[in-house]
Amino acid sequence: MTTILVLNGPNLGRLGTREPEVYGSETLPDIGASLAASVPDGVEVDLRQTDDEAELIGWIHEAVDRRMPVVLNPAAFTHYSYALRDAAAQLKTAGVPLVEVHLSNPHTREAFRHTSVISGVATGVIAGFGSDSYRLAIDWLLRSHG
Ligand code: DQA
Repeated sequence: MTTILVLNGPNLGRLGTREPEVYGSETLPDIGASLAASVPDGVEVDLRQTDDEAELIGWIHEAVDRRMPVVLNPAAFTHYSYALRDAAAQLKTAGVPLVEVHLSNPHTREAFRHTSVISGVATGVIAGFGSDSYRLAIDWLLRSHG
């Protein structure tokens, strides 16, 4: 069984009602269900969300130790969490792929969203395609590492 960790940072548990004009009307469980339905047999999508930086870092450590590919929407941590970046760098060292995803395109938004401290250690970044950002990330992981 190949497991893909799909990790989500703060406030993403509020999708559905949180600024739907920016983030759409799907909830995170909706997104998780549609991702799980879209992967082939033998692939598990392990979707998690936390508002807690320490918990998110712990999940990245788990991915390093278990060599699980990661799709990460770091949410607001994208823009300032050096601790999350340092955790993500360990994936790079271990040769474990990391795809940074965003529902919106942060570059079209407020200036503080234009910087990602995560992108420099990510394998790649997909942003602006709503929940399809996650799907595209998983498609790439399956094609290149499946
Ligand atoms: C986000 C973009 C971030 O700037 C924001 O803080 C989020 C969501 C996105 O998916 O578009 O919480 O990561």
